[in-house]
Amino acid sequence: MSFSATWLRLREPVDHRSRDQSLLARAAAVLANKPEPVIYDLGAGAGSNLRGTALALGPRQRWVLVDYDAELLAASLEFISAWADKTRPTATGLEIEKAGKLIRVEVKRADLNANPAPWGTQKPDLVTSAALFDLVSEAWIERFCAALAKDRLPLYTTLVHDETAQWSPAHAADAQMMEAFERDFGKEKGFGPSAGNRAIGFMAKTLASLGYDTEMADSPWQLGDADHDLIVQLADGWANAVRETASVPENRILSWQAARKVRGGTCVVGHKDLLALPPLR
Ligand SMILES: C[S@@+](CC[C@H](N)C(=O)[O-])C[C@H]1O[C@@H](n2cnc3c(N)ncnc32)[C@H](O)[C@@H]1O
Repeated sequence: MSFSATWLRLREPVDHRSRDQSLLARAAAVLANKPEPVIYDLGAGAGSNLRGTALALGPRQRWVLVDYDAELLAASLEFISAWADKTRPTATGLEIEKAGKLIRVEVKRADLNANPAPWGTQKPDLVTSAALFDLVSEAWIERFCAALAKDRLPLYTTLVHDETAQWSPAHAADAQMMEAFERDFGKEKGFGPSAGNRAIGFMAKTLASLGYDTEMADSPWQLGDADHDLIVQLADGWANAVRETASVPENRILSWQAARKVRGGTCVVGHKDLLALPPLR
């Protein structure tokens, strides 16, 4: 499944304002005694998670951005450079300064389905991801959690879709659109049958069964008029996904899509963040 850099950039400010700040602070505290923590960002895309997390962390950091999309990884270096106060290219990525922090960034192209633990023998201090785990299957989650537990690694993940969007004002096709969208959302996305909205709860349960201390928090998108461009893209995405199911007449989809693009509407999209800490020895 591929994602466009334009879409990821559009959602970035909303993602950053939506994540739960107290869970982010707890994740930062996990790394507080590490002089230069190594952080693996899975499904890093265009680097939004680094830009949304790094300022909460300590003065030196080393990030490895993992994705199977080479174009997105190239965009991540470009966008991180533009965000930084100072930037220097290195053999494997970049070294940047931002708000008094020195951050080394490396990109790594890898298919997480083939290998859910791309850190290999280079054990990171934290594994993180944003907007990834609603794409994966329960079988993949079990493989991933077993790999985390084997290496006793903490996980901080944010913005995992866990509820169908609630649109307002109401439209006559809402229930039909929602049902068809959910069916499409559960489709395979390169990791086996997608766990979709159930994924984050299943992940927390699996990690808890491996002795992890888990905490979840809500991180919903609350979209209003100031987010009109994102609402329009979301409505188009819903309409296209519903078309794929061939279960809603085209005139009904078009009527719903047009109504969703009228200014003044709102949309709430449910997400969860999770911090999971390995058991103490
Ligand atoms: C919804 S995007 C989130 C990107 C980024 N974390 C963010 O918050 O903007 C999901 C990302 O996962 C990546 N991805 C999907 N399947 C993957 C796989 N099998 N291996 C590696 N990356 C994958 C996509 O290329 C995309 O960058």
